[in-house]
Amino acid sequence: MYLSFLLIICYNLPLLLRACPIYLTISLESKTLQDANLEINWGPECHDHPEWIGIFNEDPSTAYVHPEARITDINNSSGKVLTNVNVGKLRFPFGWNINDINTVPIEYPKGKCLPYYVASFNGSELLTVECLKIQPNWMSKLEHIAQMPLKDIFIPGTHASGAYINNSAKTKSVLVKDYVVAQQFDVWSQLVFGIRYLDFSIGFDKIVDVYDTSIGDNFYIVNENKFVQPLRNVLKDVRRFVKLSHEVVILDFSCFPIGFYKHPERHSNLLHLLHEEIGDVVYIRNTSTTEGSKQCFELTIDEIRKNNKYIIILYPVQELPYPESESKMLCPNWKRFSTAFMNTSQVLDYMRLLFSKKDTSPVQNEGWVFQATRSMEQSLNNNKLEKAKERAAILNPKVSSWLKGPWSLTANVVALDYFSNTNIIDVAIYANMHKAFNMANKNFINFEIVSN
Ligand SMILES: *[C@@H]1O[C@H](CO)[C@@H](O)[C@H](O)[C@H]1NC(C)=O
Ligand SMILES: *[C@@H]1O[C@H](CO)[C@@H](O)[C@H](O)[C@H]1NC(C)=O
Ligand SMILES: *[C@@H]1O[C@H](CO)[C@@H](O)[C@H](O)[C@H]1NC(C)=O
Ligand SMILES: *[C@@H]1O[C@H](CO)[C@@H](O)[C@H](O)[C@H]1NC(C)=O
Ligand SMILES: *[C@@H]1O[C@H](CO)[C@@H](O)[C@H](O)[C@H]1NC(C)=O
Ligand SMILES: *[C@@H]1O[C@H](CO)[C@@H](O)[C@H](O)[C@H]1NC(C)=O
Repeated sequence: MYLSFLLIICYNLPLLLRACPIYLTISLESKTLQDANLEINWGPECHDHPEWIGIFNEDPSTAYVHPEARITDINNSSGKVLTNVNVGKLRFPFGWNINDINTVPIEYPKGKCLPYYVASFNGSELLTVECLKIQPNWMSKLEHIAQMPLKDIFIPGTHASGAYINNSAKTKSVLVKDYVVAQQFDVWSQLVFGIRYLDFSIGFDKIVDVYDTSIGDNFYIVNENKFVQPLRNVLKDVRRFVKLSHEVVILDFSCFPIGFYKHPERHSNLLHLLHEEIGDVVYIRNTSTTEGSKQCFELTIDEIRKNNKYIIILYPVQELPYPESESKMLCPNWKRFSTAFMNTSQVLDYMRLLFSKKDTSPVQNEGWVFQATRSMEQSLNNNKLEKAKERAAILNPKVSSWLKGPWSLTANVVALDYFSNTNIIDVAIYANMHKAFNMANKNFINFEIVSN
């Protein structure tokens, strides 16, 4: 008992000793991603203040470089400062960009820094270095993660995942840009950054010429009751990503706001589209085995990947006619909990209720989705119609900082609009390392003792 306690202390040491955690995020204050600026964040619990923090375009621990920006007077134990350092054209390492087709990229189980570094100093003494990074292979970082059931993994996700417009799409509509778009990054890039849960709201567009195109092309990503883009292209991106990375991705078909009411055959057609585009990489339950009879949230990453399958589809199976409703390709949706109609103090109370996992909590031993979003209607209540980015700029940093403590150990799926102003992916990976370590050592000691 005593020995393993020490073991856990030692395992934690390098992180506990980090004087003041610092990290970079991408601001939501600009119109386009290219115009976006970097934010320097510090905390939680930055008590040992560095004298200054700088942003660099190279790793300052390996090369002497001038900071592109620096801040001093760090007064508080946590904070966020918008810098004038521009993200510009964000390029991933070769093979990981959306247009790098027919290439096999290098795997990065430990993540790969993009050329945006942040470092803290006392005088010229370097204290800490962090970077903006991609995590295309984080699930293979710790072998034990792959033996945990999905319900025990902190899975970083996005809400309205397909609600983005790319730079080449010259949409003039202010309504679409400010209120319908919910993500700065396309689904491909979200996955490269480390997002592993995608939420899709689907509409059926009757206008599409059925003589010209296949029936599958009627299905569109919808947000705020507007068609955003065809689902098919998004599915192609997801398939290509999992084939390259071998990561497990959860697709949650959560709402069908347009064209599905009293049209079960459209659900059947959508299932057909899923077969066509991703059928070869979706986990198929084999109900004649014990593993295949498990609930999907009981499956481990290893079990899912056994036959080179990578995708779990959550779907309201009851909407499908028989026999499609019994499809072995679909899992029933997990419980979803949304903060859409809450103010900030209500969100905190709600998180306390959900993440404490007490007997009274509506979440028990199961897969569940926490949607940390704020609806347009909720922002109307404050007598001001906030844009989607403005809502996320306020809510996301709060939610992600509340998730840095003990709640990170009870989190399952957490889905955000515009995730780039947080370090939610690092928070999730770090929590999963702890969880995996605990699981591998659970005969010795319970993690709670150390985390309290
Ligand atoms: C710390 O406080 C001083 C004085 O109130 C202020 O000028 C400075 O901007 C603060 N530092 C940061 C990083 O906000
Ligand atoms: C620092 O914290 C104080 C009180 O805790 C707060 O009033 C102030 O706005 C904070 N400053 C910054 C720059 O966040
Ligand atoms: C940096 O210097 C300050 C004094 O300027 C000191 O309080 C602090 O402990 C130092 N931090 C580290 C990590 O050495
Ligand atoms: C960008 O949008 C256009 C128009 O919607 C589409 O044709 C194109 O394939 C998209 N490009 C990417 C990289 O998603
Ligand atoms: C399901 O598992 C059983 C027992 O292992 C096996 O015989 C059968 O071929 C599997 N069915 C499918 C569709 O893979
Ligand atoms: C949040 O909403 C609750 C219930 O409507 C209300 O009692 C509370 O005052 C609100 N809090 C804030 C900070 O607006």
